[in-house]
Amino acid sequence: MGVRKIKQDIYAVGAIHWDRRLFDDLIPLPDGTSYNSYIIRGSEKTALIDTVDPGKASELMDNLEEAGDEIDYIIAHHAEQDHSGSIPEVLKLYPDAKVVCTPKCKTMLVDLLHVPEDKFMEVNDGDALSLGNKTLEFIHAPWVHWPETMFTYLKEDKILFTCDFLGSHLARSELFVEGDEKLYEAAKRYYAEIMMPFRTAIRKNLEKIEGLDIELIAPSHGPVYRNPGFIINAYREWISDDVKNEVVIPYVSMHGSTAAMVNHLTYALMERGIEVKPFNLAVSDIGELAMALVDAATVVIASPTVLSGAHPYAIFAAYLANALRPKTKFASIIGSYSWGGKMVEQLAGMIKNMKVEIIEPVVIKGYPREEDFKLLDKMADEIRDKHEKLIKRGK
Ligand code: FEO
Repeated sequence: MGVRKIKQDIYAVGAIHWDRRLFDDLIPLPDGTSYNSYIIRGSEKTALIDTVDPGKASELMDNLEEAGDEIDYIIAHHAEQDHSGSIPEVLKLYPDAKVVCTPKCKTMLVDLLHVPEDKFMEVNDGDALSLGNKTLEFIHAPWVHWPETMFTYLKEDKILFTCDFLGSHLARSELFVEGDEKLYEAAKRYYAEIMMPFRTAIRKNLEKIEGLDIELIAPSHGPVYRNPGFIINAYREWISDDVKNEVVIPYVSMHGSTAAMVNHLTYALMERGIEVKPFNLAVSDIGELAMALVDAATVVIASPTVLSGAHPYAIFAAYLANALRPKTKFASIIGSYSWGGKMVEQLAGMIKNMKVEIIEPVVIKGYPREEDFKLLDKMADEIRDKHEKLIKRGK
């Protein structure tokens, strides 16, 4: 029932996880996800591309039974368990199958899933594997988003299988898409949460696939792209050094003082023609915040003072922004205290990976007064001037 035809002798046999709402017990999945697995039936051998999350193993096994093939090779692009976790189950049914992967992936699968060493066939970058009338070409693509990752190019059918890369956490009944606004947003969210820290590696991996003649891109999450340019161009935009005239303000406020500052700064920036994205950290989806960080030129973290430091939610936002390494150019801190504290030093010390220029923070005592609002207006002027200079320089 779950087997869907992609092309002659190529089938999707993975699982759709419609109601999954959290990944890694961290990342919200508002649109569910899918774990895509594909069968490629050659004239002599059959390969299975990736498996599924162990929680959906029974769906994969039902689909394999329905497809009725003898699996000779299990291509493991990535050792993370949402794709590799059902390999032991598949090996039980096809004990002679070989797990084909990079040398690094082999050591990880041995450690994570206790797959016996004699089950593997290691492949190097550029190696090819014939299935008879179909040829798999392996492209090592490290750091999207683990070190062991690779892609497979099915030469005769011009399909590139990319696992996590170019994918989206999006449960959809359609197998193929040309690309639309919803998919763009899901793919951007996926990029922001998973891929953004690896912009440099992604640039190299995009270059590696540039010369290929690609008709379909089949990732291991979300729909198959019938228009490869849709997702490749989106990635080019996201990984570029270009930033937008936008300010992201992750904030938290306990008694309204910091919220009043955020509100004032938001309108001051809007008056200066800047797009502003404030996120109340107590109620925001962190995926939305990560997406906003993909393009914004500036981030301003806003926090009250708790026990002499920043509010834990602001610390979380600073930690997250630092870990995601967005291309943001400027950062600042605003907030309020009652009897002192080291909030600015603490937050500024947490975003060192971001390599941003720090704009003079505005941290005030108590509820903001007229002179405090003026300082925020001055900050808005400075942000506008810095953005204008960047845009004039074309960056
Ligand atoms: Fe979809 Fe990195 O696993």
